[in-house]
Amino acid sequence: MNDLDHAAGPLLVPTPEAADHPAHPAVHPASARPAPDAPRDGAEATLARLMARGADFLGSRLAVLGGAMSWVSERNLVAALSEAGAFGVIACGAMEPDRLRQEIVATRALTARPFGVNLITMHPRLDALVDVCVEQGVGHVVFAGGIPPGPAIRRAKDGGARVVCFAPALALAKKLVRSGADALVIEGSEAGGHIGPVSLNVLAQEILPHLREVPVFVAGGIGRGEAILSYLEMGAAGVQLGTRFVCAAESIAHPRFKQAFIRGAARDALPTVQLDESFPVIPVRALQNNGTRRFLEHQAAVIRRFRDGELSKEAAQLDIEHFWAGALRRAVIDGDVEEGSLMAGQSVGMVRAEAPAAAILAELMAQAADAVRARAAGG
Ligand SMILES: Cc1cc2nc3c(=O)[nH]c(=O)nc-3n(C[C@H](O)[C@H](O)[C@H](O)COP(=O)(O)O)c2cc1C
Repeated sequence: MNDLDHAAGPLLVPTPEAADHPAHPAVHPASARPAPDAPRDGAEATLARLMARGADFLGSRLAVLGGAMSWVSERNLVAALSEAGAFGVIACGAMEPDRLRQEIVATRALTARPFGVNLITMHPRLDALVDVCVEQGVGHVVFAGGIPPGPAIRRAKDGGARVVCFAPALALAKKLVRSGADALVIEGSEAGGHIGPVSLNVLAQEILPHLREVPVFVAGGIGRGEAILSYLEMGAAGVQLGTRFVCAAESIAHPRFKQAFIRGAARDALPTVQLDESFPVIPVRALQNNGTRRFLEHQAAVIRRFRDGELSKEAAQLDIEHFWAGALRRAVIDGDVEEGSLMAGQSVGMVRAEAPAAAILAELMAQAADAVRARAAGG
């Protein structure tokens, strides 16, 4: 049987209040049917209990964050995830404040459920973006791409938003909590997009037992419900997934981008290769294509020109950094899967078909509930 078919359970079915706020047509899964919100059996009750802290924090039914993905996580996917009981997060990326405001307003037109906004800390107008979130009453601001400046955290909190930060190590996690982070995400190197050096397997062991002050969400390489259950049992408040939601029916990613995900295997999603340690490259995990092959040649050519005295070190470094400018947009929006950036996590191998966001979530939750049942049966 197709896992997607047997998965719908009360944890996933839209509540009556959601039905009062009809969303974008694409947001409604055909399989949605009215049902009581309460867990159906002990396994679902166990799952709901394990997710309670994270779900309370997010204000959603499921402690599942839709990891913000630049160009992918816009109004349609964000609203679809929130409508289906998870917590969608808009990827602000390089948007200017006015553009972000439009996206928030448009998302709210599609869902009355809570969603968040992900801001990249090195954005030159970070404060203005925080102000837009506050002005629009966004409940949760996620700071990504580095340790957020204290004033930005305070600005968001003073405006009434809850602040979520990425913690790459235990010491930094504790520091972020002291600086006011209300929740943390720990993201392992299995993830798609910009990555750190440590796997979620290790980060979870290093951080979860020692940090109980705030909810901690785990991310990176999560593709099935059994893994979600395991991390919840280890003390995670919830999970964040990105790669698994790229092929949601509601995602506006180009059909060729989605096809690349459906075809891709874990071993195809590799971090960028740095040719020379004097010219650092920020690691990004992506499906290999002609662009990733050309990037190696490009680095080699630029480094040769530096050695020949044609380029200064700074100019060479900038040239290398600019190689991928606009490349994610080219792949996601224009469908240029040969030269664009196919950012994807290792869980890409578990993406098998396009499916409504609600069905993907239902499948994950059914797998988690089945695992609870198997444990109870001693299996
Ligand atoms: C295509 C793509 C784009 C992403 N863009 C962003 C981004 O703009 N900001 C961010 O904080 N994380 C970004 N991420 C990371 C996701 O938010 C999420 O943490 C990650 O996908 C989780 O790991 P997984 O891919 O293994 O599920 C991106 C990931 C992908 C696959």
